[in-house]
Amino acid sequence: MNLSTVYMSMKLRNPIIVASCGLTGTPEKVKACADAGAGAIVLKSIFEEQIEADLGNMAGDGAWYPEAVDYINSYGMQNAVSNYLELLEKSRNLTDIPIMPSIHCFGKGNWTDFAKQLESAGASAIELNAYILASDPRRTGRENENTILDIVSDIKSQISIPVAVKIGSHFSSISSFASELDGCGVDGIVLFNRFFRIDFDIENLAVVNGSMFSTPDETEQVLRWVSLISPVTSCDIAATTGIHDGEAVIKQLLAGANAVQVCSTLYNNGLGVIADMHGFVADWMNRHNYNSIEDFRERLSSRNSGNPAEFQRVQFMKASVKA
Ligand SMILES: Cc1cc2nc3c(=O)[nH]c(=O)nc-3n(C[C@H](O)[C@H](O)[C@H](O)COP(=O)(O)O)c2cc1C
Repeated sequence: MNLSTVYMSMKLRNPIIVASCGLTGTPEKVKACADAGAGAIVLKSIFEEQIEADLGNMAGDGAWYPEAVDYINSYGMQNAVSNYLELLEKSRNLTDIPIMPSIHCFGKGNWTDFAKQLESAGASAIELNAYILASDPRRTGRENENTILDIVSDIKSQISIPVAVKIGSHFSSISSFASELDGCGVDGIVLFNRFFRIDFDIENLAVVNGSMFSTPDETEQVLRWVSLISPVTSCDIAATTGIHDGEAVIKQLLAGANAVQVCSTLYNNGLGVIADMHGFVADWMNRHNYNSIEDFRERLSSRNSGNPAEFQRVQFMKASVKA
């Protein structure tokens, strides 16, 4: 069965991309993901603070994102840039599937030169992990969005390989923002990043870590937005969050995604899940007489489903649940 797909002009042997996470943080782990059948791989993100510090542009004033501190503690500060380039180069040598570095960024800076180095080092594309927690009451949503659009425009002007932007779901108008990304020349949108969560320990009155991994039901909100956005953007779409099995992969492709990114299920169930997903998708395509993913991709997007209103329904006006 032909499972190939095209994502941001890259031909992938299948639509299962291993998302940026600890499973893509060393060349050996990248090779293991490729050997397990991944269609492409997004490397563990490097943080803007690291790049800036390594390039000598940033004083160590401690005003870093907490994620950057975590990262620096585990991966080290010294030679972050050269270590990351080495991760890319070694990964490239160990496999021939597309490898996409990921940069966590929240500001425009000299670090965009780093993107050029990644391009020269053989990156197939770059993913921008562009997340700003909108917790500052003095900053409007528009200001936060403009920050991301500025970064994207800047980076697009410096490199010629495809650029994807991975966003969270907290926008007042996701569809309009997706159109604006399209207008900046972005090649792909990754919907949606799942962020680190917090929880409360009510016995010790303490803030603790929330659930690190997604659950399958989280894929439903991604499904809605992929269905709504795919008709209004020319960007390719990679769906992520809550995709744990082959059925969820098919749903996202039907909604209009070109590919999916998976993480939690690989941590929980091992890399063998990738082959299980291939098997499920191939079997389903066989049963439905589809020869390629393009034969059915986007069949249930809001444009093609035959019932666009279904995607807009959010209120339980007519509840059919028996109390
Ligand atoms: C342990 C862990 C580390 C992650 N690190 C990154 C990262 O460095 N950059 C990034 O963009 N996303 C990161 N993510 C988010 C994943 O790439 C993915 O988007 C998210 O987990 C949703 O997919 P899932 O439901 O399949 O887990 C991480 C997730 C986990 C669980």
